Amino acid sequence: MKVLVTGGLGFIGSHTVVELQNEGYQVVIIDNLSNSSLDVLKGIVAITGKTPIFEKLDLKDKAQVQAFFKQHQDLKGVIHFAASKAVGESVEKPLLYYENNINTLVYVLQELEKLTISNFIFSSSCTVYAQADVMPITEEAPIKMAESPYGNTKQIGEEIIQDTCNVNAKIQAIALRYFNPIGAHESAIIGELPIGVPQNLIPYIMQTASGIREQLSVFGDDYPTIDGTCVRDYIHVVDVAKAHVIALQRLLNNKNTTNFEVFNLGTGTGSSVLEVIQAFEKVANQKLNYKIVNRRSGDVVSAYADTTKANEVLGWKAQYNLEDAILSSWQWQKSLNAV
Ligand code: UD1
Repeated sequence: MKVLVTGGLGFIGSHTVVELQNEGYQVVIIDNLSNSSLDVLKGIVAITGKTPIFEKLDLKDKAQVQAFFKQHQDLKGVIHFAASKAVGESVEKPLLYYENNINTLVYVLQELEKLTISNFIFSSSCTVYAQADVMPITEEAPIKMAESPYGNTKQIGEEIIQDTCNVNAKIQAIALRYFNPIGAHESAIIGELPIGVPQNLIPYIMQTASGIREQLSVFGDDYPTIDGTCVRDYIHVVDVAKAHVIALQRLLNNKNTTNFEVFNLGTGTGSSVLEVIQAFEKVANQKLNYKIVNRRSGDVVSAYADTTKANEVLGWKAQYNLEDAILSSWQWQKSLNAV
């Protein structure tokens, strides 16, 4: 069964391709290599022993998108990761984000409408909730005004899919709202590859512990949380990847109850920045150099998932905890350091 994964060489995309191939799917990857590398393709082959079809293609090129789908009319599903994801950059370059994340989504959906491909999985984010009023966050929590153009592209993206499903019952879609995906494949052959100075906590910790960065800045310790630092729901990327396979199977087996469904992907446990540092120090058996600095603008205080719907309706549950995920990130970082 042939499945398209857009952005299949990215962080979550590559781990999902591995899980799909392990389950016997034939995978076609589209990636423009803007934030990924062909080494990831080699890594996928090394882990699975199978070579996915790969096409270097930029989804902003509508004519190329049309030509691609004409050639691949036997696709049974599309998992759409391809998008830009840096919150800060999206504030600086909003139009780039609307073009990269919205135009491309529209072009892909237009092709699904034309063809008989009906199953579509969308890479969404807990950012759609902004600062939710109630923890843990259920899928019914209100979608508040987005705090960045990036967050807005995820909100608008979900609306575009919902509107499309409303008028085209043939298209079946699931949006998966990830909390904070971290970690790496247990082989340490693929993982997260931040370009330049990492913006996210885990890659920054890994690079500080490796001596690439001098010191981690902890953004604020005066929040109304257990120890004053922000709380997030860190979820192992392999758990996230497996959820995509389960969501696809749900659509392929017509188990969905409406033609647009949303699910939270998290562990259900919130961890503070200081708890993450402690977990790192424990699994890596080394101290981390950090200091408390001012709050980072735009950070929400707390965000962790109510996973009841994902557990009971989707039939998915995170298998790994924070320490497992951090250990896998550390092993991946050590393999990068060894190159
Ligand atoms: C954000 C977005 C998320 C997006 C992700 C990827 C929101 C609510 N979340 O996650 O949708 O997918 O970025 O870019 O917009 N921290 C430090 N020091 C650092 C880095 C981070 O203390 O050097 C703290 C942050 O203040 C935060 C936590 O670590 O409390 C996690 O930050 P980060 O990894 O950047 O993820 P989010 O901001 O939660």
